[in-house]
Amino acid sequence: MSLVGKHLIDPGDFTLTEFDSVFQLAEKIIENKEDFSEICKGKILASLFYEPSTRTRLSFESAMLRMGGKVLGFSDANVSSTSKGESIADTIRVISSYADIAVIRHPKEGAPKLASKYSSIPIINGGDGGHQHPTQTLTDLLTIRTFKGSLQGISVAFCGDLKFGRTVHSLIKTLSRYPYNRFILISPRELRLPEHIKYSLDNQKTIEIIETEDLESVIDNIDIFYMTRIQKERFFNEADYVRLKDSYILNKEKLKCAKKDMLIMHPLPRVNEISYEVDEDDRAVYFKQAEFGVYVRMALMALLLGVYKNA
Ligand code: NCD
Repeated sequence: MSLVGKHLIDPGDFTLTEFDSVFQLAEKIIENKEDFSEICKGKILASLFYEPSTRTRLSFESAMLRMGGKVLGFSDANVSSTSKGESIADTIRVISSYADIAVIRHPKEGAPKLASKYSSIPIINGGDGGHQHPTQTLTDLLTIRTFKGSLQGISVAFCGDLKFGRTVHSLIKTLSRYPYNRFILISPRELRLPEHIKYSLDNQKTIEIIETEDLESVIDNIDIFYMTRIQKERFFNEADYVRLKDSYILNKEKLKCAKKDMLIMHPLPRVNEISYEVDEDDRAVYFKQAEFGVYVRMALMALLLGVYKNA
């Protein structure tokens, strides 16, 4: 099995064994970061962000720099030739000769996939519209694996904007590939998980899917609580956003009924949906989760570039 030269556009592009190889390498990196500080010497990451980002962009860039490589790119499409009307196909054809690997974030669903068709270097989807966010999924799975020890037989609640939240779409689809998981979907009616995602879940492996608008009625029986922000930028009108934005706010009071070992996760950025008082709770792992994002991206790039030989 080799990941060398592959693209990662959708989590379904990788087998569960390939996921495991990424996690195992990420764990090795966490144990001994020094050993990996030179493995990407001479390699260049193109960081192409057509949509705002803090964590994803900086964690990719940090990951490449921590492995001794270099980074070029842009964090605002207005400063690239896209603003002159250049297609993503032409951009990526050219960038293929400037870099060895590229991460693309784009507001249009499918843009990274299109780019991968014209690219001679590995393309990683850094989030495409409301569609998928595979490297956040790798980050989330590494977090769950580290704190829970397993990716199966767990009750995972997704709360907030399940309609537009691409991190939810990628994570639930991937977790449904592991056996005996239960999913609890907590959202306002208008922001429910899209039907096509629900149908794409592996029903053979999944034990149960519960949909509710009522957070309090289900909080006592959850292993992983995955909170998400209402995705303001994907709304067609401001009034709907304003009406829905504070639908759920997790605070100490609500957590009183939760399991003592429930993990509280969030892909970040947080707006209002988790009170700051929750940050002190031992169950809150969202900042640790963001840190894992760097190690998992180091592992992923090392494997796609083929610079790590013992995988
Ligand atoms: C997420 C994203 O961009 O989809 N952020 C991230 O990558 N960590 C979540 C969000 O923006 O709400």
